[in-house]
Amino acid sequence: MLGTDNSLLDAKVQLRIDHMPKGAFIVLDAFGGYGKTWEEVATRTGRKDIHRMGIDAEQRPGCVQGDNRKWLKGIDLSRFDVIDLDAYGIPFDQMEIIFRRKYTGIVFFTFIQLVMGMCPAKLLKTAGVTKEMRHKCPTLWSHVGWMIWLDWLASNGVKQVYHRSKFRKHYGCFEI
Ligand SMILES: C[S@@+](CC[C@H](N)C(=O)[O-])C[C@H]1O[C@@H](n2cnc3c(N)ncnc32)[C@H](O)[C@@H]1O
Repeated sequence: MLGTDNSLLDAKVQLRIDHMPKGAFIVLDAFGGYGKTWEEVATRTGRKDIHRMGIDAEQRPGCVQGDNRKWLKGIDLSRFDVIDLDAYGIPFDQMEIIFRRKYTGIVFFTFIQLVMGMCPAKLLKTAGVTKEMRHKCPTLWSHVGWMIWLDWLASNGVKQVYHRSKFRKHYGCFEI
């Protein structure tokens, strides 16, 4: 069910198992929640060398509390081998900060088009979609949101995106 922590948990977990670093690493889990995804990764792989720092807007064990955009702007991202953006929607702002700060490492993300497939105006703007165009036909953009996201990632230097997708839910990762 959309909006529920860890719907389609299996796809998320398997993507991480397939693309996480082979040696010890630290993950900045920017939409940390209850940490179920990385807990499941550790359980399935038996690995004890995955270290996690969580951020969550709510008070959650293992997480610092606050808006992840503030944290992503302020902390030293080079300490982290992996950044995880397991959002409920589309983590455009977070990804923009990560690009701006020239982070290098592995990024996992969740891209889900919520109400009527709406996309953030800022993402559409990267493809030249104006406010007038959005207002004329709001649902049209729901069909191209994922493609615009992939184009935007590519325009920021992302060479390859691995993903597991179902309808409007996409779990992806790449290295930058
Ligand atoms: C899909 S859940 C995360 C599930 C988690 N990754 C797990 O494996 O258990 C999304 C989480 O992001 C948090 N969140 C939403 N917007 C946020 C923001 N701007 N900054 C920090 N946390 C946020 C929510 O409180 C929620 O716990």
